[in-house]
Amino acid sequence: MNRSAELTDGRPAGSMERGRGARTAMGSGNRLKLGLFGANCSSGRAVTMVPKRWSGSWTDCVRLAQMADRAGIEFMLPIGRWKGYGGATDYQGVTFETVTWACGLLAKTERLTVFGTVHAPLFSPLIAAKEFVTADHIGEGRFGLNLVCGWNEGEFEMFGATLRDHEERYAYAQEWLDVVKLAWSPQEDFDFGGRFIKLKGVRAKPKPCGGTRPLIMNAGASPTGQSFAIRNCDALFSTISHGISLQETSRHVENVKTAAQQYGREIDVYTVGVVTCRPTAREAADYHRHCIVEHADWGAVDNILAMRNITPQTHSPEAFQRMREHQANGMGGLPLVGDPDMVALDLAQLAAAGLTGIAVSFVNYLDELPYFCAEVLPRLARAGLRAKPGAL
Ligand SMILES: Cc1cc2nc3c(=O)[nH]c(=O)nc-3n(C[C@H](O)[C@H](O)[C@H](O)COP(=O)(O)O)c2cc1C
Repeated sequence: MNRSAELTDGRPAGSMERGRGARTAMGSGNRLKLGLFGANCSSGRAVTMVPKRWSGSWTDCVRLAQMADRAGIEFMLPIGRWKGYGGATDYQGVTFETVTWACGLLAKTERLTVFGTVHAPLFSPLIAAKEFVTADHIGEGRFGLNLVCGWNEGEFEMFGATLRDHEERYAYAQEWLDVVKLAWSPQEDFDFGGRFIKLKGVRAKPKPCGGTRPLIMNAGASPTGQSFAIRNCDALFSTISHGISLQETSRHVENVKTAAQQYGREIDVYTVGVVTCRPTAREAADYHRHCIVEHADWGAVDNILAMRNITPQTHSPEAFQRMREHQANGMGGLPLVGDPDMVALDLAQLAAAGLTGIAVSFVNYLDELPYFCAEVLPRLARAGLRAKPGAL
């Protein structure tokens, strides 16, 4: 696997690239990797008022991580969120900081890759690099970095930080990540003279666990964001909206992989989904409607949309309602609603389109994961996409 040419300042990535296969495979040989997305936040991803919604408490996060670990789920991906979205539930109003959250979960699990989701402009790159190394040693090489540039102005104001314009956000992130990778590299002291970041006599020890470096992902959607991931990351997370055909998905994956090859790199493409799996299709559809339509936290949904200038004033009533429902359902993840056969088939089709994996959420992860593991995972194993799941 050639993942060289990582640093943009002309220096080779060097020996920290050795033995990276196990990290990018997230420690499993499964063709379709599975992760849990958003468990560090109250309500997780579902913008719902149902009392069964996710607590996001530490106790529940630990129980969930250990259950996922036993089942052979590959990863947990937290959301970097600093301020809730209001509404009746103050949606995502209670959140754990993600790197310290990852440290705790890595200490309590054995196989899971746990990501930290980090807003590059809010963290000094050297402190961040050292935090990642600490997490990586705690997890014996299982820490992953989800680098985000930010989009939510209100959150940045809270830190006294200014959100740069879109292109500049990624230009800054490039320097930030270059510094982090240099701090991880075997290089001893170094200076860094960028446009945004200037550092003198940097020394950073220890290095990440085992002479390799943490897996890096990014979820850029714009051409600039995707290009950033293609040049720098091991994984790109792309949202696949309901209604996008498998052919389109497959073309997207192919385009991303081909673009990476032009930089002498390889990249995996993942997506995000929202699972409602019940013994019958009818029960699944009913529960989905109950949570996401009849008891959606519409106040929070409208706040989220307004931040993106999506309001009844800027959109037609039909388009606005469509976007509200899309948002209520796990902030826009692909809905996977049905009986176990249907959900397994949907997942198999994503794998057939070339996706390496998917990060999913549930209304209540702890309540719903056991059924998913008992019914959907064996079907994926029979389809040759995963090994037989472990006992919970
Ligand atoms: C799987 C996934 C995870 C993301 N996690 C976060 C996050 O935790 N915090 C955040 O501010 N943005 C997050 N984002 C937003 C992206 O980082 C990115 O800003 C967004 O997709 C828009 O892309 P662009 O920056 O190329 O315009 C996430 C997006 C996806 C699809």
